[in-house]
Amino acid sequence: MRLAGAELVESREILPGQWLQTYRAPDIIAGARAGQFVHVRAGDYSGLVLRRPFSINTMDLATGTLTIHFRVIGRGTAWFTFLRPGDRIEMLGPLGRPFEVDPRSRHLLLIAGGLGMAGVRSLTDEAIRGGRQVTLLFGAATARDVYPSSLLPDEVEYVVATDDGSMGHHGFVTELVPEYEGWADQAFACGPLPMLRALARLAATRRDRLGVATLGRKRGGGRPAVAGSAAARRKAFLQVSMEQNMGCAVGACLGCVVKAAAGPPVRVCREGPVFAAEELDWAGGW
Ligand code: FES
Repeated sequence: MRLAGAELVESREILPGQWLQTYRAPDIIAGARAGQFVHVRAGDYSGLVLRRPFSINTMDLATGTLTIHFRVIGRGTAWFTFLRPGDRIEMLGPLGRPFEVDPRSRHLLLIAGGLGMAGVRSLTDEAIRGGRQVTLLFGAATARDVYPSSLLPDEVEYVVATDDGSMGHHGFVTELVPEYEGWADQAFACGPLPMLRALARLAATRRDRLGVATLGRKRGGGRPAVAGSAAARRKAFLQVSMEQNMGCAVGACLGCVVKAAAGPPVRVCREGPVFAAEELDWAGGW
């Protein structure tokens, strides 16, 4: 984790109210992994010093740049849209625990809902660099909110669902999962809580429904992995990236806790944001 200056290279509105910004931040992305995030200090009209967490949307080690993808939801995020190339901001990162892909997984299923695309986007690059096949299921309310396919690597199979049926499958993105879960070695998701809950339910019943072995049995003799460890995530069929409001983003304020399936609550900023789905209590009221 480093605190470093980041220079804005490019800023554009890619969807109504959604922005993609490129920052030069070589110190931040050195060693960063897919699923991690940055905490960025914004200027604010009130004069308060506020920080915002952003998933690292993409990283380019050759140019030392990263992108963030965000929706304008208040004055803090609106402030970012007024920045111009050459402006500098302060960035803390990389933060949190990343996605863990089992080295033997060849077929990855990524599921994103709305702005959850930012949570899994860098995993598409990482997976394709590793020679894996990636299917990305994306859910949005309507066609005008669908993430542009031109911003994805050509190698990704991109399947869209919209709530109103204006593009792709008419319905929730989770309804597409049964078609692909037999093909997938592992799945990775980010999006609204109801979507993640539905996916966790599907993952929990997958073995019985499909008659497939769990990753633990198939690849490691069923030895239990320590909860919260990279090994636990690597063994899981489904890993989820949680989106929570964050205050400090370094584990101090406890403002981001969620219920664990066993043991004390866990902090999304420190023990997450990526968890094995079975590590969380999905009935929890968070
Ligand atoms: S945001 Fe403060 S503990 Fe996570």
